[in-house]
This record gives sequence, structure tokens and C-alpha cells, in this order.
Amino acid sequence: MSDKKQIKSESSSIQRVPTGIPGFDELCSGGILRNRSYLLSGTAGAGKTIFGLQYLYNGITKYGENGIYIATEERPEQVRENVKQFGWDFEALEEEGKLAILDACSTKIGIPSHEKYVDVRPFDMRSMLDQIIAIQEDIDAKRALVDGTTSIGFYLGDPAKIRVELLKLSTTLEILGLTSLLTCEIIDENNASRFGVETFVTEGTIVLYYKRKETVRVRSVEIFKMRGSTHSQSVHPYEITTNGITVHPKEEVYLD
Ligand SMILES: Nc1ncnc2c1ncn2[C@@H]1O[C@H](COP(=O)(O)OP(=O)(O)OP(=O)(O)O)[C@@H](O)[C@H]1O
Ligand SMILES: [Mg+2]
Repeated sequence: MSDKKQIKSESSSIQRVPTGIPGFDELCSGGILRNRSYLLSGTAGAGKTIFGLQYLYNGITKYGENGIYIATEERPEQVRENVKQFGWDFEALEEEGKLAILDACSTKIGIPSHEKYVDVRPFDMRSMLDQIIAIQEDIDAKRALVDGTTSIGFYLGDPAKIRVELLKLSTTLEILGLTSLLTCEIIDENNASRFGVETFVTEGTIVLYYKRKETVRVRSVEIFKMRGSTHSQSVHPYEITTNGITVHPKEEVYLD
């Protein structure tokens, strides 16, 4: 087989998972790659959680793919409340067995949880993975959101340890047949990750910016890295409205 034909047959075997977020999939040839884990980085309030939850919601409602939400930062009941403004009824999806939320937040901060799926305290990657495996047996999901990796990183402390543990997490998600987004809080927009290791253990990195330009803050998104895929090299504006996130793929933002 000629080189050209070889390349063609390899690329056509790659399966894409559309995020369904208006305008985003155009930036990466139709979606992210199936069974891979992606880092979703951004500063506080950039829109990481909304982006990730919209990815899960679209998966269930547009593509028939169940979702798992691992919530380490926000209590599930608050999240269910917050997403109602976008018209997303998470409770109904949970009752239908299409969405599962793992509460990895409440016990961490020492308050009781009445959730169906609760992670134990103190944090332990093995037990978290066991929980995810058990949930996967229940709902046979195709998509996952880990929101997020930064509190796990602070718990582990040492970057070498963080790298190994996050690799365990991303690889387990992939073996379970999940295409996942893992959020990462950044404080310096010149660095795509918090501990300098997260981008290396994931197949791609999407960065959400929320930068002030004169008197207003502008939201924009960049695909910083996507192994095995062509993607836009530009920074594109996006907005959050009562419909959730909409990316404008034909427009570009200059970040200084
Ligand atoms: N209905 C809405 N219309 C416009 N903007 C909204 C709406 N709801 C939320 N937002 C914006 O989204 C922001 C929160 O987004 P999100 O929680 O996804 O951010 P985040 O990156 O996860 O932040 P954090 O790092 O604090 O977790 C709010 O600060 C607000 O600016
Ligand atoms: Mg968040």
C-alpha cells in the first residue's frame, strides 16, 4: 500500500466525538477523538464547568451517549440548580439512568451527602477509580467530565505524583470507553496547566480565556494541543448565554 493510501485509511478509522457546542467542533474537524481524555484549562470563571456540562448534556440529548460527571469542586445540588438556567434538567436525566454524578466534593469539605454516588474522604485515586468503574457498570456511559484535576493536584502536592495519578485517571477513563474532559484551573494564562504536568498526560488541551480588553472582559477559546488531529491554531471568541456556550469559529481574538 502506498504511503498516501496508508495515511488515508488511518485517518478515516479515527472516530470523532462531537461536543455539540455550537461552533466548537468546526475548530477540530468535527470533534474530539473517541476514547481519549482532554484537559480543559481556564482561569476562574472562564466557563470550564459550563463547557464540560454542555458536552455531557449534548452527549445524552443529541447523540444518545450517557455521561458521568465527577464533581470535586461543586456540590451536585448546586450544579443541578445552576444548569436549570440553560434549560438542562439534570435530575430527569439522572432518573432515566443517562447521567450519573459522583459527589467527590461534600465529604472533602466535611459535610454529609445524600447523593447516590459519593466519593470517600480522604482523597484516594484508587477508590475514586473504583467508584467510576461501578458507575460505568450501572449506566454504560460514553462521556465523562472530571471537574476538576486541580484539587486532586493540591491533595497530592508533588508534580511527579500528580503526573502519575492523573495518567492513571485518564488511562482508566479511556479503557472504560469514555471520552473525557478534565478541567484544570490556571492562574497564569501563559501556562496551559496549573502544575506543569497535566497537559502531558492528556491527549489534547483546550484553553478558555477570560481576559479584560479595555473596559470589558472577552471570552475566547483555543485548541492548544490535539494529538492525532488537525485543529484551528487561532483563538476564537465565545459567549455564554441562556443557551449555554456558543463559539464563533470564523472570528478571531488577539490576546496580548
Ligand atoms: N446565563 C448566563 N449568561 C451569561 N453568563 C453566564 C450565565 N451563567 C453563568 N455565566 C458566566 O459563567 C461564569 C461561570 O462559568 P463556570 O462556572 O463554567 O466557570 P469555571 O471556569 O468553571 O470557574 P471556576 O474556576 O470558578 O470553577 C460566571 O462567572 C458567569 O460570568
Ligand atoms: Mg468550575
